[in-house]
Amino acid sequence: MKIEGGNIVVTGGASGIGLGLCRRFIELGADQVVVADLNAEAAQSAAAELGDAASAVACDVSDEASVQSLIATVLGTAGHIDLFVANAGVGTGAGLDASDDLWDLSWRVNVMGPVYAARHVIPHMESRGGGAFVVTASSAGLTTGPTSFNYATSKHAAIGVAEWLAINHGPTIAVSAICPTLVDTPMASEFGTVLKQPLSVDDVVASAVDGIEAGRFLITPEPVALEMLQAKAQDYDGFLANMAQRVAQMRSSE
Ligand SMILES: NC(=O)c1ccc[n+]([C@@H]2O[C@H](COP(=O)([O-])OP(=O)(O)OC[C@H]3O[C@@H](n4cnc5c(N)ncnc54)[C@H](O)[C@@H]3O)[C@@H](O)[C@H]2O)c1
Repeated sequence: MKIEGGNIVVTGGASGIGLGLCRRFIELGADQVVVADLNAEAAQSAAAELGDAASAVACDVSDEASVQSLIATVLGTAGHIDLFVANAGVGTGAGLDASDDLWDLSWRVNVMGPVYAARHVIPHMESRGGGAFVVTASSAGLTTGPTSFNYATSKHAAIGVAEWLAINHGPTIAVSAICPTLVDTPMASEFGTVLKQPLSVDDVVASAVDGIEAGRFLITPEPVALEMLQAKAQDYDGFLANMAQRVAQMRSSE
């Protein structure tokens, strides 16, 4: 997928990784970049800052009608969509005490958001002969780590969504899953004590653009995420014991 000349939609595009992606897509010569976000005001000001190639659409990715309306609006103005980045996510969470409301929010935004987008944009892309669909998942969806119970579980499911789409709709649709470790965005503050220093948004965006342009499925901005996945595949019990030890050390130093 070539970014230059593309019509692109980014959900959660008003902040953090999504905003960084929108900015970079425009620098690379995308024709149109739609900043879609629950926060309509932030989406408007992001689009205004990004310039003429950007526009804003208010959208709640957890509401299928809202996602359908976003896609219809973009098709009505731009004519087609080359790349859809299902990036919007929520990090709010807890442990065993996470309420049903929190589980529901994680599920609806982090999992059903990409599902609704795929349901309504992939048939359009297939009717044109191709396109690209990207899910911003997380390394928490590969190896869990110390993030909250509901967040880590929902991100495993988000990777499941991307994998299913790649297997059932690739290679016509180039599917990627971006799996960063901790990133320096407003969401990072919700994760509390962590095991590492955050990555910069610019580093995540550079890695994501490389992966999307190369048509790669798994995008891990830091090699450690892939190394941990490999360790898990080689020795699942050993991986869990090692991870549990690291998380226990982290908690005892809090
Ligand atoms: N920050 C991290 O450490 C980190 C690490 C790995 C993965 N991620 C993932 O990256 C993605 C982007 O997160 P970020 O760190 O840039 O966070 P962020 O909080 O800076 O941005 C998230 C954006 O999503 C929007 N949003 C939230 N709910 C929405 C909804 N229902 N509909 C539409 N928009 C909605 C917010 O308004 C916000 O603009 C998320 O999917 C997140 O899970 C983040």
